[in-house]
Amino acid sequence: MTRRIRKAVFPVAGLGTRFLPATKTVPKEMLPIVDRPLIQYAVDEAIEAGCDTLVFVTNRYKHSVADYFDKAYELEDKLERAGKAEQLEMIRNPLPSHVRTVFVTQPEALGLGHAVLCARPVVGDEPFAVMLPDDLIWNAGPGALAQMADHAEKTGAGVIAVQDVPRERTSSYGIVATDGFQDRHGAIRGMVEKPNPEDAPSTLGVVGRYVLQPGIFDALESTGRGSGGEIQLTDAIASMIADGSRHDAYRFQGTRFDCGTHIGLIEATIRFALDHEKLSEPARASMQKALDELAVAEHD
Ligand code: G1P
Repeated sequence: MTRRIRKAVFPVAGLGTRFLPATKTVPKEMLPIVDRPLIQYAVDEAIEAGCDTLVFVTNRYKHSVADYFDKAYELEDKLERAGKAEQLEMIRNPLPSHVRTVFVTQPEALGLGHAVLCARPVVGDEPFAVMLPDDLIWNAGPGALAQMADHAEKTGAGVIAVQDVPRERTSSYGIVATDGFQDRHGAIRGMVEKPNPEDAPSTLGVVGRYVLQPGIFDALESTGRGSGGEIQLTDAIASMIADGSRHDAYRFQGTRFDCGTHIGLIEATIRFALDHEKLSEPARASMQKALDELAVAEHD
């Protein structure tokens, strides 16, 4: 057994241009899925996996992410006076008392690898998680990161979440090559960032959950610009693997929604609405109504 992760890094300095105009003023991590912003789902998953230190790599446009995890005295006061106990409870303790947040600045958008490197002074010399909040993972049982953290703790390996992706989509993902899988994990032989379909070594795409060993920071220091002219986390992991460091691809249990795309955000909203204690029935009814009305409109 090795050390379990305690720290999770959330790179949230991206521009979110895909969701303009909404993201002109609202960071994409704050877009809601039903009643909670995307970032909340990733944070909950990290805490469930055992993390007590959340490191947000952010920039000057993302103040609302910090505000979200801060105390809102005025609002609390108003809700208290209005006797709105349920709403008060929702905002009073955004995080359990044992969890702390740290905000680190990524002054320039130099890529995911660079964002992770910015967290080095906070993470130090221990294994840690990287979570990309765009990737929202729904699971009835333990969250994806908890599954991966268990595996990392047992093996001491770096662990990278993967799922099968259509070949025509490989250029949107880090793609890994393995020598096959045992249960849910397989040692990675090679890894390449966003290859064209004809060059992709497989169709196993990296999903935004990583458990990394601290050696990644030295690897990142010596990683030059790669795909898209950015410093890529994939390239640093690939160089560690080439140097003999064990990294396992992990087929997590759960459904991943790519909330970095419009359709992914819609799919996630549908799924979480249908799975919601109070909204499930009305959501189902309203989806049916919308489909029926559209079918009639098409006939007219
Ligand atoms: C990042 C990673 C990529 C990974 C993807 C998963 O890319 O660089 O390897 O497959 O996240 O969401 P991005 O989508 O940020 O361009």
